[in-house]
Amino acid sequence: TAPAAVIVAIDGPAGTGKSSTSKAVAAKLGLGYLDTGAQYRAITWWMLTNGIDVNDATAVADAAAKPQIVSGTDPAAPTIAVDGLDAAAPIRTQEVTAAVSAVSAVPEVRARITDLQRTIAAEAPNGIVVEGRDIGITVLPDADLKVFLTASAEARAARRSGELKGKEAADLAATREALIKRDAADSSRKTSPLAKADDAVEVDTTELTLEQVIECVVTLIEGASAAK
Ligand code: DC
Repeated sequence: TAPAAVIVAIDGPAGTGKSSTSKAVAAKLGLGYLDTGAQYRAITWWMLTNGIDVNDATAVADAAAKPQIVSGTDPAAPTIAVDGLDAAAPIRTQEVTAAVSAVSAVPEVRARITDLQRTIAAEAPNGIVVEGRDIGITVLPDADLKVFLTASAEARAARRSGELKGKEAADLAATREALIKRDAADSSRKTSPLAKADDAVEVDTTELTLEQVIECVVTLIEGASAAK
């Protein structure tokens, strides 16, 4: 018989290598991949382009059900569409990055996106790697494996500013400051804050290369899969 679909939750703050790691391990093991941050960015982009004041929680809550958000889960070519429009590029702007913590703190937004995430995970034929902030605790508490990635603020800022290109490339100090501010907002919000589940395996990536982190998570998934 075919092995049971394995469900993997990977959480942690920005700049820990969550996305690169999650995509690579999913591709290696033939699993689907879901970037839940992209979904929060997508709904934030929709709010901004539709003139919703992102700091008005009531307005954001009222609009939360309106955009259609579709995620493609192929780790080799993940996609995100909002009302049929490719949103991959616009969700990465600094404007969206600055607004996403406020939008994702609104309970109606989280309920809507959490629903989407659970449906996608349940329908993944071969299992899936779901990366985010609240996957292990709130979205998929019964995941077969939970991983919590960490890294020092310095390492995270250096990685993140290396990812930014062209005129979006901020200096290291500004990146570090923005990242710390966003983590603080994500960790202190009332609904589903960024946190490590008690049964998550913590991996500190500060001193590790991406390849080493990938290898470590692949080994953890193989162990969890064998134990199923
Ligand atoms: O992973 P990212 O930096 O693209 O995520 C963008 C924002 O989305 C992050 O600052 C907080 C929010 N987010 C969330 O609240 N819950 C998740 N599961 C994933 C992201």
